[in-house]
Amino acid sequence: MKNSYSLRYPHPVLLSSKLKRKKIVEIVINDNKFTLFRNKVNKPQAVPSACPHRGANLAKGKLDKNFELICPYHAWKINHKGMASSPSAPKRVCKIHNLKTWEKYGVIWVANEDTTEKFPDFMEDNFSLVGKFSQKFEAPINVVIDNFSEIEHAFKVHRFIGSDKKDLHTVNFSVSIEEEETKGISSGKYRKQPFIFRKLFGIEKGDYYHNDWSFKFKPLNASYRNYWTNKTGNKVRSNQYIITTFFTPITSNKVDIFVFVQMSIKNKFLRKIKSILSFFTVMVTKYEIWEDAKIARFAPEKPEENTSWKLTSFDKQIFHNRKKAERIYFGIQEKNTVAEEV
Ligand code: FES
Ligand SMILES: [Fe+2]
Repeated sequence: MKNSYSLRYPHPVLLSSKLKRKKIVEIVINDNKFTLFRNKVNKPQAVPSACPHRGANLAKGKLDKNFELICPYHAWKINHKGMASSPSAPKRVCKIHNLKTWEKYGVIWVANEDTTEKFPDFMEDNFSLVGKFSQKFEAPINVVIDNFSEIEHAFKVHRFIGSDKKDLHTVNFSVSIEEEETKGISSGKYRKQPFIFRKLFGIEKGDYYHNDWSFKFKPLNASYRNYWTNKTGNKVRSNQYIITTFFTPITSNKVDIFVFVQMSIKNKFLRKIKSILSFFTVMVTKYEIWEDAKIARFAPEKPEENTSWKLTSFDKQIFHNRKKAERIYFGIQEKNTVAEEV
């Protein structure tokens, strides 16, 4: 299999905990199938699933005592360097595409073997990583990009982010567009929450919720900084959260999202219950992203024939993000997108 354009960038593909020592897992990225396993030094190794001999699915194979991958059909063997050899014709040896792999932040990442792109680090100073998880979206990548490019749906779809319906007039949203990154800045009166929730999150009644994000394309990912202030914005509350989501396209209608939750707590008392807060925050984030996945299934990628979408200023980033994803991530030059610039 030839190198794929998008796999020049490292992609998260599986939580480390899901790849046990002798396990073989098939992963799919942009319709390309790979077989993932741990080699003799316990490092994740990923190779194209089609055996170089006659294409049988290597993911159905086995690992031998040296943790080399054995094809289930004629038992060709793949070693840790990606050399394939035949037991029946020992001189028949060939090199296959052995992806580059990383195991970082509790997740396995892969890219083309010869990638020169740097690893997409997302950790912020003074924040600590408190959790990670993955979530499947049964929707095209464009629909997923759309969902993560606007805040308008927050009051309807979400329970913990955004404003209440009656306070939508307080919501401010602006966008800035750079060559390889887009940014969204949003704020609005925070939705009503129970007393205990406000105390745990260090929030006062009448506070404003801010969600500022940046969307990047090498690979597709976005980081959202969530924080609260008083109404005038001059007092920033104790707890801040950065939710980073990586979007790994699987097929034309499936995307795996890998989510990393970072937290920073200023308040001394709240810091003492950091582990409770971490747990609670990861649960809340899981719930909210699950809600996104639920609704994304019902959103189309384009308008029905002979119709157009009536976009508003909240949709402003969608148009840019789709175009940048096409150009930077997929390597497709100028093509018409369905969204008109607003
Ligand atoms: S197809 Fe894999 S060994 Fe023949
Ligand atoms: Fe959402």
